Amino acid sequence: MQLLNGNLVSKQIKLEIKKEVDELIAKGIKRPHLAAILVGNDGASITYVAAKEKDCKEVGFDSTVLKFNESITEAELLNEVEKINANTEIDGLIVQLPLPKHINEKKITETISWKKDVDGFHPYNVGLMFKGLPCFLPATPYGVIKLLEHYNIDTTGKNCVVIGRSDIVGKPMSALMLNKNCTVTICHSKTVDMSSFTQKADIIIAAVGIPNYLKAEMIKEGAIVIDVGITRVNDESEKGYKLIGDVDFENVSKKAAFITPVPGGVGPMTRVALLLNTLLSVKTN
Ligand code: GUN
Repeated sequence: MQLLNGNLVSKQIKLEIKKEVDELIAKGIKRPHLAAILVGNDGASITYVAAKEKDCKEVGFDSTVLKFNESITEAELLNEVEKINANTEIDGLIVQLPLPKHINEKKITETISWKKDVDGFHPYNVGLMFKGLPCFLPATPYGVIKLLEHYNIDTTGKNCVVIGRSDIVGKPMSALMLNKNCTVTICHSKTVDMSSFTQKADIIIAAVGIPNYLKAEMIKEGAIVIDVGITRVNDESEKGYKLIGDVDFENVSKKAAFITPVPGGVGPMTRVALLLNTLLSVKTN
């Protein structure tokens, strides 16, 4: 079994990004600038946005975080998005999800200019992605692809099972694996006899959000296993929680050829993918 080490690979990619930033500055182009909108006090969202700020600093990007009270109206938030759309200093915008119930996420996502949509959630970018055309790819699936490519994992003709059909991970992940010449099956909560699919898979990408869901008996010997799950479980540590993946790592790792750990697998790759998209925005807009 070989670990797919997202910590290591993301560090390497960050160094490459930093070098490109230095080149952009030397050419007098501009320093990439990522803006994030954070609404309310959701603990996980606050952590994610703070991590994105730290990542930006590390590679030499500017970053701006706009924080709003949960009481902000949809119209006010749409206005904030429009202001960033019009601000030529800012190259990428993410609105951290989830948003409060009174705000329509779809409306917000569709208002972000597709040229600054570094989350890749705008329908126009989704369409480009499905056609295999250049676009901003959603960060988690993009990060998984970069990880597979780093380890030279051959995907052509392979049976790939994606577990999960979310707009953020499952659906785009399946499109990207299809673009990489896999035979793709998307399984989900209504799939009957999950093991009959996973046992035939050469590559399994688990994005279900159920801790330790994928068991050793559900996979074949030598499978490649990618764990997208990050469920927070409270514990006695300093942080007060730990992250648990969708894969029963202890047992699955004994059978898999390659496997991502949690933490340190897909998570850091997701973070670096957002940086790659922001850099791409400067280079293409
Ligand atoms: N919430 C959970 N994942 C994401 C993400 O990738 N982007 C944004 N904007 N919000 C999220």
